[in-house]
Amino acid sequence: MALVESGTLTRRNAKTQPVPYEVHTLNMSHLEKVMEIQMLVIKNIAKDKYYEPDDEGLFRQGLKHDGLSFGMFIEDRIAGYMVSNFPEDAKIRNYGEYLELPESEMSSVINFESSAVHPDFRGLGINGRLKKLAVHELANVGRDHVIGTVSPYNLPSLKASLSAGVAIRKLKSLYGGRLRYVYHVNYKTPYYFDKSECIFVEVRNLKRQHELLSQGYAGITVRGTMDYYEVGFALPKHS
Ligand SMILES: CC(C)(COP(=O)(O)OP(=O)(O)OC[C@H]1O[C@@H](n2cnc3c(N)ncnc32)[C@H](O)[C@@H]1OP(=O)(O)O)[C@@H](O)C(=O)NCCC(=O)NCCS
Repeated sequence: MALVESGTLTRRNAKTQPVPYEVHTLNMSHLEKVMEIQMLVIKNIAKDKYYEPDDEGLFRQGLKHDGLSFGMFIEDRIAGYMVSNFPEDAKIRNYGEYLELPESEMSSVINFESSAVHPDFRGLGINGRLKKLAVHELANVGRDHVIGTVSPYNLPSLKASLSAGVAIRKLKSLYGGRLRYVYHVNYKTPYYFDKSECIFVEVRNLKRQHELLSQGYAGITVRGTMDYYEVGFALPKHS
């Protein structure tokens, strides 16, 4: 376990004191606590189709490599986690397949596997902070791709993911028929976008989103509230 960052967080829309936090890399000693948070999440959103629970094996695969997974600690508790793994360990799915990466690239993928925030600590922007840090730190692992999935209808997770600088490249039916964006970080050929050129599409307009994605556009930002929100698409520019 290594300290990655420390600082303070401020709760959204509240006049509370800033909350001190530390981010540490997670390892196998954190498995139980991380699984406890996932159990709590599952209990709270039992009828939710926006979150796909991960089995213990996937957590174990991620946590056995020090430096692949990150936890936000507040008052010595794990407030939130971001677990990644090497797909060849998990032997279940390589997210590179969802982006149709060439076979030669498959061994260079990191799956962004699972993330959640303990209900006591929601509203502090923890998930976005952890994803951003993970994208930054995983650049040092020696792989070229970080790939993850998020439901278009999980607005907090979607906002957190896009704030970390990932690019949505596909919209697919996964996990037995559930709609998911597939997002990508490419360390070898980074994406650059001009946000002022964004085309905004209402999240439920799937046809238009499929059209834009098939034309090479990427989803890079989101605006609006739970009642109505739009995803912004732009064409990647390469340096
Ligand atoms: C997704 C999850 C991790 C986010 O927790 P969090 O970090 O506390 O999220 P926050 O409440 O800080 O919200 C994240 C972003 O969504 C925005 N958001 C949250 N609720 C919102 C709402 N009702 N309307 C508009 N925006 C909203 C926040 O403003 C924030 O964006 P900002 O940083 O631009 O302000 C948490 O909800 C969770 O654990 N969910 C269950 C598990 C899950 O879905 N995991 C992700 C699977 S891909």
